[in-house]
Amino acid sequence: MAASNVSWSSRTTFIFAAIGSAVGLGNIWKFPYEAGEGGGGAFVLIYILFVFAIGVPVMIAELMLGRRGQHSPPKSMEIVAREEGRSQLWQVIGWSGVIGAFFVLSFYSVIAGWTLFYVYQAATGALNDITAIGSGAMFNALLSSPVLMTIMHGLFMAITVFVVGRGVKGGLEVAVTWLMPVLFVLLIVLVIFSLQTGDAGEAISFLFSPDFSKLTANTILQALGQAFFSLSVGLGAMLAYGSYVPKDVSLPRSAVIIASADTGVAILSGLAIFPIVFAFGLQVGSGPGLIFETLPVAFAQMPFGSVFGAAFFILLSIAALTSSISLLEPMVAWLEEHKGIARAKSAVVGGGLCFLVGILTVFSFSNGPAVTVLGKTPFDHIDFLTNNWVMPLGGLLIAVFAGWLMARKTTVEEVDRSEGAIYRVWHFMVRYLCPVALSLIFLQFAFKVF
Ligand code: TRP
Repeated sequence: MAASNVSWSSRTTFIFAAIGSAVGLGNIWKFPYEAGEGGGGAFVLIYILFVFAIGVPVMIAELMLGRRGQHSPPKSMEIVAREEGRSQLWQVIGWSGVIGAFFVLSFYSVIAGWTLFYVYQAATGALNDITAIGSGAMFNALLSSPVLMTIMHGLFMAITVFVVGRGVKGGLEVAVTWLMPVLFVLLIVLVIFSLQTGDAGEAISFLFSPDFSKLTANTILQALGQAFFSLSVGLGAMLAYGSYVPKDVSLPRSAVIIASADTGVAILSGLAIFPIVFAFGLQVGSGPGLIFETLPVAFAQMPFGSVFGAAFFILLSIAALTSSISLLEPMVAWLEEHKGIARAKSAVVGGGLCFLVGILTVFSFSNGPAVTVLGKTPFDHIDFLTNNWVMPLGGLLIAVFAGWLMARKTTVEEVDRSEGAIYRVWHFMVRYLCPVALSLIFLQFAFKVF
């Protein structure tokens, strides 16, 4: 139960934890790749617009529901719906979150496991002087070994379980207050190195000079989805974290800080990665391979490359860990609350199940024995269902519930007691702008209407 004994000890810790959740593989690995595919500057601009116009209002609503409910996502929704005299069916927001986050974590942990593998490779000096061929072979060797991928996935999941199992004060706070500052320092050092060693001019013009002719309806919707994923909204993670937020914390202010930090890290990641990509003639849109396969080659050719490379993969692992914590938390909060299982045990049970489901993702990437279901890998199905259905629907329901079904008095109390401009802007966005925009993304994914 999210009673006072497990509240965040301070506002700062909550902000750190939420930033930790938002900043992850989505920013450092996925954002540059999607920006590359989406044509650079124009995608970046639209993405930033969506973060602040849609992501932030929905995040405020999600945090509000959690703080109002004071429990795990499903139970919080049960409580708030009852308080507001609404149907118990609204619990679906909590349930889709718990289940969605569980499935996202199952593959997130596998990708994070790859990162751990590269930390190990960097630490043992295996990346020193690596060539393009050697690097390709190394990545291939990883994909050829389901056992190795499973071990790395298991290791990452075990660390996540350990941190979540120790609880808000014992685990999350230590992780976020110590790891987040390290992450920022590493990233900034990385950007400075990269701008000096790589092709800074090309990278900056790629990221910041928009070419709107490259934008399509699909890219716009892609940017909307990426904004959601990157901010960790729509799957109950912020609902779970919201239940730990002290009453005197301003949710709009927090959401803006979280979103700014998240966007900042995405941009910094772009500035760390693209100068290298351009200087070494790498492919902007090479997907999962971009970081794992080609960056070590670039690192190997640079002065201080081995330090550089090791720092990069450590940074990525830390970022992934503070995100995976928030993906396990909704389920653990629920198990603890409904089954009365102690937090540590809940984390082991939830993480253990998630580990087993993650093996499906291992065999999705394995270039030895691989599994397909209905023509797609299990990973493709999980990714498609969570990103394209569960998250936009979750965000849409959160916006509709907060904007239309909650009493104005309640939302005023939670969001902005003065009922001033901040409240009015938020209320308008969550009532009109967010539902319309989210309906569009949902319709696009469901029926390919554009
Ligand atoms: N935002 C994280 C990232 O960018 C991923 C993540 C963590 C997430 N928790 C979430 C995504 C909850 C959606 C919902 O890597």
